[in-house]
Amino acid sequence: MTGVKVEITVNGRSTSDEVEPRLLLAHYLRENVGLKATNIGCDTTSCGACTVLLDGQSVKSCTVLAVQADQLAVTTMEGLAGENGDSLDHPVTAAFRAEHGLQCGFCTPGMVMAVTGLIAENPDLDERAVREGLEGNLCRCTGYHNIVRAALVAAGKDPDAEQEIEALSDAPRTAPGFSVGSSEGASA
Ligand code: FES
Ligand code: FES
Repeated sequence: MTGVKVEITVNGRSTSDEVEPRLLLAHYLRENVGLKATNIGCDTTSCGACTVLLDGQSVKSCTVLAVQADQLAVTTMEGLAGENGDSLDHPVTAAFRAEHGLQCGFCTPGMVMAVTGLIAENPDLDERAVREGLEGNLCRCTGYHNIVRAALVAAGKDPDAEQEIEALSDAPRTAPGFSVGSSEGASA
């Protein structure tokens, strides 16, 4: 099969390669560029573990061909690292750490990139916007409570105040014995 030349700026660095036209961006990032934070968790475009920013907008990189990203800029979780190379310096990753927004961590890079994209699109995020914005990202550990808290902290919101409001406005979704805004009965 004839290869197609692509030039993609990844985390501020120019990359180029000759790729098969069917090569997915997720595989280009992992195999051609060697950046492994972008995970692949499904074959059905449903998990969001592969989420990256493409010219600033979050996309599932398993649904984008590498050739579609030609001449565009991609940011992966590695690209959030500061000058010292520590991605925990970034406000979103720091919030995930502070709010215990990860358990096994497999979904975390996708969640972090999705939240980064959400905040860039809407700096005035509230809890409902976070929950709706993360609908395409699955956490198999069901740690959503702390992930949403982390997103709100990263957006500069008080997660306790936000989640009290959500609990009042959406009471039927609150399981018996589960108190939103406290750790009692929470699974994460
Ligand atoms: Fe992309 Fe699951 S690997 S959505
Ligand atoms: Fe394990 Fe999300 S932390 S899948």
